[in-house]
Amino acid sequence: MVKTVVIAGASRGIGLEFVRQFAQDGWRVHACCRQPEKADALKAALNGRNGLIHALDVTDDSSIQELAQAIDDEPVDVLINNAGIMPDDRKADGTMDYEAWEAALRTNVIAPFRVVEALVDRIDAGQMHVIANVSSLMGSIGDNRSGGDHIYRTSKTALNMVTVNLAEDLRTRGITVLAFHPGWVRTDMGGPNAAVAPEDSVRGMREQIAAAVPDQSGGFTNYDGTPLAW
Ligand SMILES: NC(=O)c1ccc[n+]([C@@H]2O[C@H](COP(=O)([O-])OP(=O)(O)OC[C@H]3O[C@@H](n4cnc5c(N)ncnc54)[C@H](OP(=O)(O)O)[C@@H]3O)[C@@H](O)[C@H]2O)c1
Repeated sequence: MVKTVVIAGASRGIGLEFVRQFAQDGWRVHACCRQPEKADALKAALNGRNGLIHALDVTDDSSIQELAQAIDDEPVDVLINNAGIMPDDRKADGTMDYEAWEAALRTNVIAPFRVVEALVDRIDAGQMHVIANVSSLMGSIGDNRSGGDHIYRTSKTALNMVTVNLAEDLRTRGITVLAFHPGWVRTDMGGPNAAVAPEDSVRGMREQIAAAVPDQSGGFTNYDGTPLAW
């Protein structure tokens, strides 16, 4: 039976690579991006494949509701909450950009929760019952020995708590909720010197998703499956 995935933040980078790999493997892909009319790489990735492109700004509740209506009563096996932003590094030196901090919390923390809330019944109706939140090792408190990046770090730490909290809330429904560090990946966000190719990062996360069992719900792992410190 064909499996179905919903990917938020699918226009480029890691999200686009998720689309490519799931589509090549014959999945039905709901690929979500802010500007479908400009998503040429996404259109190319889905050309001739079983997939749909949806307009989705994850910070806009009406946009999320429109996505849920478009998916209608279709079961969803896997939800990938990948959309994220990394505002400029700011420190406690009088230069903090508080609007950027609020925007990061809206995009990286509140939005993934909101997408889950809108689609949880569809995920319940699927076969695999997996929610994957693309977090970051920069959100790890235990790993932080370098400081800086207050905005991005706190947003991903909070996303990790959302992951654990949802894992507990959804355990009785058999839904597995995972947080991933995708590695330092060569994307617009990671930059050209990053260590990991998007292909390898996504292949690794897909392997973890395919093998996920309910006992792993609420876990935080590297893309290669290594458990990470909170
Ligand atoms: N690259 C790394 O080294 C790295 C490391 C750790 C964690 N991560 C995480 O991995 C995820 C993907 O990162 P990436 O490297 O692929 O970044 P990227 O190349 O900057 O891509 C970010 C994606 O998120 C989308 N997005 C941002 N805000 C959105 C919104 N409000 N609504 C819908 N989509 C939105 C972007 O869409 P637009 O094209 O419309 O802007 C784009 O598709 C992020 O959550 C990031 O924090 C990345």
